[in-house]
Amino acid sequence: MSRIKIFDTTLRDGEQSPGVNLNQLEKLEIAKQLERFGVDRMEAGFPASSKGDFQAVKAIADTIKNTSVTALARTVKSDVDTAWEALKGAEHPSIHLFLATSPIHMTYKLKKTPEQVMNTAVEMVTYAKTKFHDVQWSAEDASRSDLDFLAQIIERVINAGATVINLPDTVGYTTPAEYGRMFQYIKETVPNIDQAHLSCHCHNDLGMAVANSLAAVENGATQIEGTINGIGERAGNASLEEIAVALKVRSDFYPYTTGLQLEETKRTSDLVAKLTGMYVQANKAVVGRNAFAHESGIHQDGVLKHASTYEIMTPEIVGVKANNLVLGKHSGRHAFKDKVKELGMELSEEKLKSAFDAFKQLTDHKKEVTDDDLFTILMEVQTDTTSVNKYQLEMFQVQYGTANIPTAAVVLQTPDGRTVQTACTGQGSVEAVYRTLDELISENLKLIDYQLSSVGGGKDALAESHVQLEVNGQAVNGRGTAQDVIEASANAFLNAVNRYIVRQHSQESNVVASET
Ligand code: KIV
Ligand code: ZN
Repeated sequence: MSRIKIFDTTLRDGEQSPGVNLNQLEKLEIAKQLERFGVDRMEAGFPASSKGDFQAVKAIADTIKNTSVTALARTVKSDVDTAWEALKGAEHPSIHLFLATSPIHMTYKLKKTPEQVMNTAVEMVTYAKTKFHDVQWSAEDASRSDLDFLAQIIERVINAGATVINLPDTVGYTTPAEYGRMFQYIKETVPNIDQAHLSCHCHNDLGMAVANSLAAVENGATQIEGTINGIGERAGNASLEEIAVALKVRSDFYPYTTGLQLEETKRTSDLVAKLTGMYVQANKAVVGRNAFAHESGIHQDGVLKHASTYEIMTPEIVGVKANNLVLGKHSGRHAFKDKVKELGMELSEEKLKSAFDAFKQLTDHKKEVTDDDLFTILMEVQTDTTSVNKYQLEMFQVQYGTANIPTAAVVLQTPDGRTVQTACTGQGSVEAVYRTLDELISENLKLIDYQLSSVGGGKDALAESHVQLEVNGQAVNGRGTAQDVIEASANAFLNAVNRYIVRQHSQESNVVASET
């Protein structure tokens, strides 16, 4: 069995998904969970792309100890310098340089000749090597590149010091046989290829990202790149959890191991879904709600007689527990603390206290508090920035009936400490609340997307809402939970506005810090 490295790019390529914008605390939570999941390398962001990205990469690099932290950079000196500034505190820093090699990209996007591309790649790998021991170079759009040119440029960048060569299927165009052949060709043709790891990076435009990644491994790739839940640009990236479980379940066919802790799979998937607002479809392989459910009578009968008739793996393999009933009304602080630990979370004393208070409030209305409920509460508390004054919902009231006009009255506390109130009507209760909030909030607001779901099952399940707003022209997401759907919706709306305020605040403090 040979060991395949897992390179996670949820926080970089995954964060490029339309509608996803994670704040620094959320990125840190995901990074910590990826470390627990056991990925070999995590791509924390693209530091030269924005101040926010720079800070998030730096925070992750300064926190994560057991996983190599990498960052994306274009083949320009200033990107390499910025990446080094963000990553230099990491235990195992590395850089990921990329430059397109396909005729389409070189001609129309870069407007460079193949020779210029070759020289730039070699020059920047050489420069990156003066700062980083580990340098990954990606031939963007490799799958549509000329194979001879690809082989030549790879040989040159390895001579310049690249330690990993990544061959992405940037536009999700290739097929498993074709992609596999490209790896085989590079392995057979590039004389110094044994001095670097070969990596695959697949997009899912034709639904073949996982199959393509596995074909690459069969043909010599020793690193697989992907994201949790397959999130990413357009149709997304290869789903790491699907690849990991395929390698495990079909270890009779694939003689490879990974360092992943598979029992952390479901938790990692849930966390990414919750924080990004990109929920996985019920029938998604490995982590979907129905992935282990048997509906047809014939299947149920078979499973009862012998599980292996229709089950190729158990839910436990990915950390799905059969019984996740946990705490209730009478559970004390001690049991609560133990459960937090069991869920793999580390909270400061102050946040632990807020989470315990929220849990106690929930038990007033909900008899059985599940792991999912607790996880939701803990995430809310953990990713809340308490040091900035924000809008607070003091109270709201909605009148709704099929025979009257939905009307909402809201009392809010503003960030400067004033109490404001008003009432508005709408076509439905949520619209009435949103129009009222809009009236009370001074920022310019536009609702782009709205989602509502339940945390687990049962009539008393928590409601969870995700919204995307444009606040003063900037896209920002919000998340809210409550026992009531309208309250959850109001919380999500306010959460988005407050995230905008926190973001503005941190940008202002950066300006002050850089001016002083
Ligand atoms: O898909 C791609 O080509 C990329 C590169 C930046 C590696 O994400
Ligand atoms: Zn990509």
